Amino acid sequence: MNIGILTAGGDSPGLNAAIRGIGKAAIRSHDMSVVGFRDGFRGLMQNRHIRLDSDDLSGILTAGGTILGTSRDKPSRMNVGGREMDMTGIMIETYEAHHLDALVCLGGGGTQKNALHLAQAGMRIVTLPKTIDNDVAGTDITIGFDTAMDIATEAIDRLHSTAHSHHRIIVVEVMGHNAGWLALGAGLAGGADVILIPEVPYHMDAIAESILARQAAGSRFSIVAVSEGAITADHAADRDRLKEIRKTGDDEGERATAKQGLQDLKIETADATHSLAAQLEERTRLEARVTILGHVQRGGTPSPLDRLLATRLGTAAADFVAAGRHGIMVANSGDEAVAVPLEEVAGQRRTVPLDHPWVATARSLGVSLGD
Ligand code: F6P
Repeated sequence: MNIGILTAGGDSPGLNAAIRGIGKAAIRSHDMSVVGFRDGFRGLMQNRHIRLDSDDLSGILTAGGTILGTSRDKPSRMNVGGREMDMTGIMIETYEAHHLDALVCLGGGGTQKNALHLAQAGMRIVTLPKTIDNDVAGTDITIGFDTAMDIATEAIDRLHSTAHSHHRIIVVEVMGHNAGWLALGAGLAGGADVILIPEVPYHMDAIAESILARQAAGSRFSIVAVSEGAITADHAADRDRLKEIRKTGDDEGERATAKQGLQDLKIETADATHSLAAQLEERTRLEARVTILGHVQRGGTPSPLDRLLATRLGTAAADFVAAGRHGIMVANSGDEAVAVPLEEVAGQRRTVPLDHPWVATARSLGVSLGD
């Protein structure tokens, strides 16, 4: 049998461990040959590939990034020479030229959608869930999340001592545009005093009050962990209203205005973290500083938990291919690797439920969620 592998979307720690897991199990347990496509779906379109033998898979377990490279290209809307084109047919040609029995796509939410598209176009597809955001539906954890949470937690630990020394508010921005897993997990693990996530729109007054209450109780510093996608309750209300008009508005003009409104709102909230710090400074009269962790959270050596997860899901993916299964994502459920139909995953997002135990834990600690 022949198996192809590609990594797509934003990189995350553990991708190489997953490639190694898939490849080693495919070669050793199932006598398959393995080919890797470079730079996500673009490499599949351009047939840029490398054969992956046992030797190529050695020594990559602990390496960050992806040896295959990645991109955010979409098969049905690929930028080719400045024009957006549907390149699905060309990708099927590459798939057939390699006589693939399956193509394993490693990616986040966007990749699951693209993978379903290729499966519906006739390819035998298996996917693995990876993203530091932990927001892929159908799995209880994604590859890369644990490492990113470690990195963000260590940053919060370090920020504590400097915030304490200077009696400052330190606002630390953690990745996650749509889901707050990373800010909530690292915020709890790092002992943040305020945690702001996209799922819980915030009120500036509530945050300022909680910081002033801390000060009154003798704590002259505060750590605010904020997801990059967290927004104020007013902005969230505007967004929801505009989204509704865009979806159900009566005339086209009204829908177009709402679309423009959503774009304007995106621009207005792009620098929400700095504006949050400035407003807190004004309301509390405490000095505030901003630290944006950014892509640091995606780099470097994967944690043992991510290596283990990636290796377990990777080897399971090879086993599923050998058993003739496709059109599935290999998800984690407790200690098991399970097959979830791609239709149930694509287009869904696993955000933080408001009744999640982590949310309850934050509330019982007296951590402000800004609501
Ligand atoms: O998809 C994961 C993610 O790391 C998000 O947390 C972040 O918002 C985004 O990617 C950043 O994307 P890029 O690497 O394209 O700047």
